[in-house]
Amino acid sequence: FDKTQVKQDLVGQHWVITAGPTMEAIDPVRFISNHSSGKMGYALATAAIARGATVTLISGPVQITAPAGAKIILVKSADEMLAACEQSMITQADVFIGAAAVADFKMKAACDQKMKKQSDTDEITLTLVKNPDIIATLAQQKRAKTLVGFAAETQNVIEYAKSKLERKGLDIIIANDVSRADIGFNQDDNQVTVITKDKTWSPDKTTKNALAGQLVEFIQQQTQS
Ligand code: CTP
Ligand code: CA
Repeated sequence: FDKTQVKQDLVGQHWVITAGPTMEAIDPVRFISNHSSGKMGYALATAAIARGATVTLISGPVQITAPAGAKIILVKSADEMLAACEQSMITQADVFIGAAAVADFKMKAACDQKMKKQSDTDEITLTLVKNPDIIATLAQQKRAKTLVGFAAETQNVIEYAKSKLERKGLDIIIANDVSRADIGFNQDDNQVTVITKDKTWSPDKTTKNALAGQLVEFIQQQTQS
C-alpha cells in the first residue's frame, strides 16, 4: 500500500484482528491444528493500517511475515489467543475481527511427557474438550464497539453464518465456503458473503488483499451507521 493514496479515515481507531490457526498441544512434540494460512487476517491488518488504524494482530503460528506497523502478538493455543485478546482490549477497541481458525477442541489434559506407543494395543483414544469461543466471549464482554466474525462452512453457508451472527452476538459475519478448492483456506483468492442484521453483500471473487480493502471499507461504513 502507498499510504499517500489511501484515505486516512481510521486514524485514532484501534482495530484488533486475530489470524491463522491455533495449535493445541497433545504432548510436548505433537499438536492438533488446521490448514489456516493467516493470509486473510494479515491482509485485513494491512488494509486497516493503510487507512490509519492502530492495529493489534494476534496470530497463531503462520508462515507469513507481520504487516509493517502492526503490533503483533504471537500465540499458540486458543486459551492464549483469548488471553491476548482480553489484554489488548482492556480499553474497549473500535473493531474486533476474528479471522483466526480457532481449533474447536483441545486435549482435556495434554501429556507432560511424549506419549509412548503401547505394544499391546493398536488403538488410542484422546479425550478432547471444547475450547472457549473467543469471539463470543469478547462480544459478551463488549470488548469492541463492532465485532466481526468469519463463518467457515461447507454447506448451508448463508443459513449457518446467520445463526453464528445471532448466537455469538456479532455485528457482521463474513461467510466463507470452505468446500471450494479455489478459495478460502490456504488460497490467495477468496469469495465471501458479508452479512449483518439487515444487509447481505456478496463481492466478486478476488485476491485476499483486494477483498481485505473492500471489507475494511464495509466495516468502517457499518461503524458509522
Ligand atoms: N471462533 C472463536 N473461538 C472459537 C471458535 C471460533 O472465536 N473457539 C470464531 C472464529 O474466529 C470465527 C467464528 O468464530 O470468527 C466462526 O468460526 P467457525 O469455526 O466458523 O464457527 P464455530 O462456532 O466454531 O462453529 P462450527 O466450527 O461448528 O461451524
Ligand atoms: Ca469451528
